[in-house]
Amino acid sequence: MLELGTLEELPRAYREALSNHHLAPLWPLMRAALPYDMPIRRARPHLWKWTDVRPDLLRAGELTPLEKAERRVLILANPGLGPDSIRATPSIFIGMQLILPGEFAPTHKHSPSAIRMVIEGEGGYTIVRGEKCPMEKGDLILTPSGLWHEHGHEGAEPVIWMDALDLPVVGALECAYAVEGKSQTGSNQPDASQTRYLRAGLVPYSSLGQRRPDYPLIRYPWRDVREALVAMSGVVDRNSMVQLAYINPETGAECMPILGFSAMMLRPGETARPIRRSSSAVLHCIEGQGEALIDGETIRFAESDTFATPTHAEIEILNRTSKPAFLFQVDDAPMQRKLGFYEEFQ
Ligand SMILES: [Fe+2]
Repeated sequence: MLELGTLEELPRAYREALSNHHLAPLWPLMRAALPYDMPIRRARPHLWKWTDVRPDLLRAGELTPLEKAERRVLILANPGLGPDSIRATPSIFIGMQLILPGEFAPTHKHSPSAIRMVIEGEGGYTIVRGEKCPMEKGDLILTPSGLWHEHGHEGAEPVIWMDALDLPVVGALECAYAVEGKSQTGSNQPDASQTRYLRAGLVPYSSLGQRRPDYPLIRYPWRDVREALVAMSGVVDRNSMVQLAYINPETGAECMPILGFSAMMLRPGETARPIRRSSSAVLHCIEGQGEALIDGETIRFAESDTFATPTHAEIEILNRTSKPAFLFQVDDAPMQRKLGFYEEFQ
């Protein structure tokens, strides 16, 4: 390994000259920027317990009316990335959002893409591009970059969901911004997951030969995903993971450009060993409980808990119970693939 020169070895006058000219020598910074074999990872494996998040969020509902918040969200800040960080991992923003009965989160659109993963409550809805999507526990709802969206609540109890955004990436490029809009309430379309894309393998005939739409499906109901995972669990051998990816039904590609989404089922007694990847991830437990061993650190998770895994992490997920556990995963593999540096390590 080369012994690189330090900043202190350089004459003070030279260092001052470089500073005055807004220049910096690379070699003293070389190993920090490009370490050998493994990136420097500040993000840590971390668990956010639902038993902490839920009361804090409900308290926010008492303290801050929605008119003063626009979106009433508590951010999951990874402790390795600093207390003011808005990042659960280097690329993933996770917020827990509360909407109370009768409240309305006004229409806007923004350059970062977002998704919702519903955690609790009934009667919430999101309108995306005029399409009104019911929000039931475990449903995935997309609000991609540039699409108008608003949230409302027609039920009687608080509704809570998890937001995941590529905001850290778009923000780092100084491209993050939002635009206010008019309510879309008058232009509702039926939910495409219940009409045009009801079954895998079938798409509207009229879409053949056209440029395939970027976001044909906005809502992925948990009811269907869970059923598909349970069916798959009966045919996948014990050494393979029961995991399904959420995709664009028209193209077969990941359903969003930067972040990827998948759901996995851990059978009773199963230990899942996902392949080590260059992508970071956030996992959310929809049902059941288990343990995750992340780079040697043990995280015990229960229903509605959420945890972060750094890039390049060694991961094992165990279900020691007699009931299945279901996890939803957000990762940044789609972006890494597009940029050409995504890796899997055998
Ligand atoms: Fe939004």
